[in-house]
Amino acid sequence: MADRFLRWGDWLEERLGWRAAQELIDHKVVPIHRHSLWYYFGGMTLFLFITQVVTGILLLLYYRPSADAAFESVQFIMTEVQFGWLIRSIHSWSANLMIAAAFIHMFSTLFLRSFQRPRELTWVSGALLLFLSLAFGFSGYLLPWNKLAFFATKVGTDIAGVVPLIGPFLLRFLRGGDEVTGATLTRFFGFHVAILPAAATMLLSLHLYLVQKHGMSTPPSIDPGSTPKMKFVPHFLLRDLVGWLAALTVLATLAALYPWELGEKADPFAPAPAGIKPEWYFVFMFQTLKYIPSKILGIDGEILGILFFGLLGLLLVITPFISPPEQRPGRLRLLPVIGVASLLYIAILSVLAYMN
Ligand code: HEM
Repeated sequence: MADRFLRWGDWLEERLGWRAAQELIDHKVVPIHRHSLWYYFGGMTLFLFITQVVTGILLLLYYRPSADAAFESVQFIMTEVQFGWLIRSIHSWSANLMIAAAFIHMFSTLFLRSFQRPRELTWVSGALLLFLSLAFGFSGYLLPWNKLAFFATKVGTDIAGVVPLIGPFLLRFLRGGDEVTGATLTRFFGFHVAILPAAATMLLSLHLYLVQKHGMSTPPSIDPGSTPKMKFVPHFLLRDLVGWLAALTVLATLAALYPWELGEKADPFAPAPAGIKPEWYFVFMFQTLKYIPSKILGIDGEILGILFFGLLGLLLVITPFISPPEQRPGRLRLLPVIGVASLLYIAILSVLAYMN
């Protein structure tokens, strides 16, 4: 079996001059140790991203991006188009699972210190991909033009409007005016199906190129010399495939048992529904803003909260350049402490938000 793949590598190289494919097939290996499980999550995020692209293109066949027609076109997809409900539900569930997988992948590469030299740019491109994934989620949420999405977008863009200096510009840029209207919907559609996919494709190509160039890292606690290695093609790839099939099963089950709701059509003149919340991946930030006092040392509390999260985002991107070096066993290790504290913070604030 392995020989057959090796011959494919030679074939691709000879016919297409595709050295990268031959390199990958012939030389890529994955270290096998007690933390190897975490190597699967990058591939899992990739699989879910591809699922998003395929189901998103199918939805585009019927979706219409205007305030008059968006809700009705999604209703049509859910009720009239064959398997339309399934495609829409898979797209919505897979968006959530992809963001969850990207978070797991990020925390695992953080704890295993995979971002260390020479993989700093792999981390930076990954962190930017995470932000793009959140932007995909935020822009896609509005597209069905239902009540919940309308008000969540109003609240989200209001928060963007509070950013010091550029806030008012940012708000008008996102909304296409002062209010959330059909212009906002058309704009979010443009972000969701053109700008974000183009940016994500470029960043993802860089990310995967760097993964291939540097090979898989071995965590500092593992001795790379005495760690057995598994060939990526076909052995690790086949294991990846099993994971992807499992993800597809979970997606199909969720989509079939819990089809994604559509709700009521957005009505800009209706009062906002009580207890409006953003998607789960934004909830911890939203809840933090609720707890911050309205004034701290005379400065608007919401502005401070937004600046705080902006700073955290920046620190996340530059983690490889500021993280303390690995410390000797027995000493307090700063990075795992920060990682665990962040995870606990996200979990506790999200639970508090849902309990309210
Ligand atoms: C759309 C989002 C993403 C996709 C599709 C993706 C995909 C991948 C894939 C396929 C790998 C190789 C397999 C693995 O190590 O798991 C990988 C490795 C890596 N990724 Fe990502 N990734 C994404 C987001 C991120 C994020 C958010 C970060 C961190 C901020 C990140 C940092 C890394 C690093 C440091 C490696 C190298 C791991 C090693 O060599 O051991 N990635 N990524």
